[in-house]
Amino acid sequence: MKHKDYQSICEQVIPLAKSTGSFIKNELQKVETTQIIAKEANSLVSYVDKTAEEMLVEGLSKILPEAGFITEESTTIQNQKSITWVVDPLDGTNNFLHGIPHFAISIGCMIDGQTMIGLVENVYYGETFYAWKGGGAFLDGNPIRVSTTTSLAGSIIATGFPYDRSLVPSLLKVLGRLLKKVRGVRRFGAAALDLVNVAAGRLEGYYETTLNAWDVTAGALIVEEAGGKVTDYEGEENFIFGGNIIATNAQIHNQLLQILKSDGDQ
Ligand code: IPD
Ligand code: CA
Ligand code: CA
Repeated sequence: MKHKDYQSICEQVIPLAKSTGSFIKNELQKVETTQIIAKEANSLVSYVDKTAEEMLVEGLSKILPEAGFITEESTTIQNQKSITWVVDPLDGTNNFLHGIPHFAISIGCMIDGQTMIGLVENVYYGETFYAWKGGGAFLDGNPIRVSTTTSLAGSIIATGFPYDRSLVPSLLKVLGRLLKKVRGVRRFGAAALDLVNVAAGRLEGYYETTLNAWDVTAGALIVEEAGGKVTDYEGEENFIFGGNIIATNAQIHNQLLQILKSDGDQ
């Protein structure tokens, strides 16, 4: 496939993300407590996640009939093929269910193990972030770039707190070190939006552990195409299936990595 093919696929995914986003937004405040299912502690899901995923799978299958799927809600057969869509139909479900207007759709397309297309729809605000490999990153058609900040002191960093409570002590250690060095720390509750906000230069960095491929595939490509850097906590490339990710404007990457790795209380 060529660049213009990726671009054309991306352009076909945009209206699908928009229409699915309209469905999700329309359901905001309508979901009844009885329609919420707890997958695990603090991991909730409702008919909205599942219906949105069905809409996306149907539309994406029309765009590339030969592709396989990795999707959070498993509404379709999970099979990695040469071309694979990686989909989180509703990232930020807890926000959505609490009526907090900060949630997204995340759609990545991997070809032979490499992410080639990524699209994240900020559902409430109708912002569409997307990128294809080698083509740059865009927000509603306009190119986006990461911030140029070089110091942690001038940085706002986002993170997430995993639902696994046994990780709290180690999370707090990192947070303690970080709070001494940065301008601010944020916990917004939607990994895909944290990533695209790094890409758009709104945040200098983002880190989180215990994530899944559908949370990060699309957003990570968008960060890279906007000039940022994405690694796992080891500084290596295993951030899609490895569970942990650091995405930055590239300038502060090593400084943030150091804080995550450091054992001493600096
Ligand atoms: C969650 C959100 C949240 C992150 C969690 C994810 P979901 O995704 O991205 O910000 O902290 O780790 O699981 O469950 O809302 O799709
Ligand atoms: Ca998610
Ligand atoms: Ca989800």
